[in-house]
Amino acid sequence: MDIREIAKRMCAKGKGILAADESTGTIAKRFKSINVENLEKNRLIFRQTLFNSSGMKDYIGGVILFDETIKQKTTLGLTIPELIKQHGSIPGIKVDKGAKPMAGSNEETITEGLDGLRERLKEYYDLGARFTKWRAVYKISNKYPSLQSIKSNAHALARYSALVQEAKMVPIVEPEVLMDGSHDIDKCYKVTTDVLNECYNELEIHKVDLKGTVLKPNMIIPGSECKNKSSSQEIAEKTLDCLKKNVPSDVPGIAFLSGGQSEIEASKNLNEINKINNSNFLITFSYGRGLQASALKEFGKDQENLKNIQMAFNHRAKMNGLSSKGEWLEDLEKGSAA
Ligand code: 13P
Repeated sequence: MDIREIAKRMCAKGKGILAADESTGTIAKRFKSINVENLEKNRLIFRQTLFNSSGMKDYIGGVILFDETIKQKTTLGLTIPELIKQHGSIPGIKVDKGAKPMAGSNEETITEGLDGLRERLKEYYDLGARFTKWRAVYKISNKYPSLQSIKSNAHALARYSALVQEAKMVPIVEPEVLMDGSHDIDKCYKVTTDVLNECYNELEIHKVDLKGTVLKPNMIIPGSECKNKSSSQEIAEKTLDCLKKNVPSDVPGIAFLSGGQSEIEASKNLNEINKINNSNFLITFSYGRGLQASALKEFGKDQENLKNIQMAFNHRAKMNGLSSKGEWLEDLEKGSAA
C-alpha cells in the first residue's frame, strides 16, 4: 500500500490510533501505579491482551509499538505485528530515542535518534511496521519554549520524516506542547502556532510529501495549573482554529495525544472538535493514557482477568471511535470505570 493510502487508513472515520509505545522507563511508572512488577512478561501480557481485544477491529486503525514489543512473540503463537494485522489494524513503531537535555538551554529538550535511523527503519519495515512516530517536546513558561528548541526540534522532525518516507512508511509528526504549568489557553494557542509553523517550514525544506504524513498535536488547552478552566466548546473552537490556520491542507489526518487529560476529558474534547469540524482533515485520537488508563487499573486488580481488561479497553476504544465522528454522548459513560 502506498504511504498516502496508509495515512488515510490510520485515521479512517470512526477509527484512531492506540499509542502503546511507552518506553521501558515510562511503562515502569505506569506499572508502579498499579503495583505490577515491570517485567518483560508482564509488559507482553498487558499489551497482547489489548491488541487481542474485539474493539481493535472497529475502532483502532493503527498501533504504535516500542522496539521491544515489535520484536516479541505473543503467547498465542503469533508475533505482535501479526496479531495487530489479524485484527485489521496497522503496526507502527516509535523510532525516536527520547527527549534529551538540550545543550545551551538545559531545561529544554531535543529529541534524539537520527544517527543510524535509515538502518533501523529497514529493520522495522521488515518486521511489519508501516508507520512511525517521533515526539518532540516543548515546555511553556515565561521564557520557554526558546527559539532554539522550536527550530532544532522542527529540523529533527523533518529529517526523520524524510527518512521514513524514503523507507516507504508514514511518519507521525508529533510536536507536543506540554500541558504542565499555569499558562492560559491563549498562551497554548500562541506557542502551538509558532511550533506548527516551524515544523511545516522544515518539512517543506526537506521535501516531505505531506499527503503521506499524520500530525499528532496537543489540543489547545490551558495549563494544568491554570486557574481559568476552559469549556470543551472553547477548547474545540480554539483547537480547530489553530489547526486550520497552521496545518497545510495536504495533511490528511490529525490524531491528538491525550497528554494528561482524563479519559473522559480526552473523549469529550475530541467529540466537541469533530462536532464543529468543517475542515477536510480527518480528526481523531492517538491516545496512550486516554485509551489505556482504565484497562491498566483492571490489570492491576487481577492480571489474569483478561475479560475485564478487554472490556475496559473496548469501552474506551468505542467512546473515542464515536468522538472521532462527533457522536459521543456523556450518558454512554455511565457505569464505566473511567
Ligand atoms: P498520551 O495520550 O498518554 O499523551 O500518549 C500519547 C503519546 O504517544 C505521547 O507520545
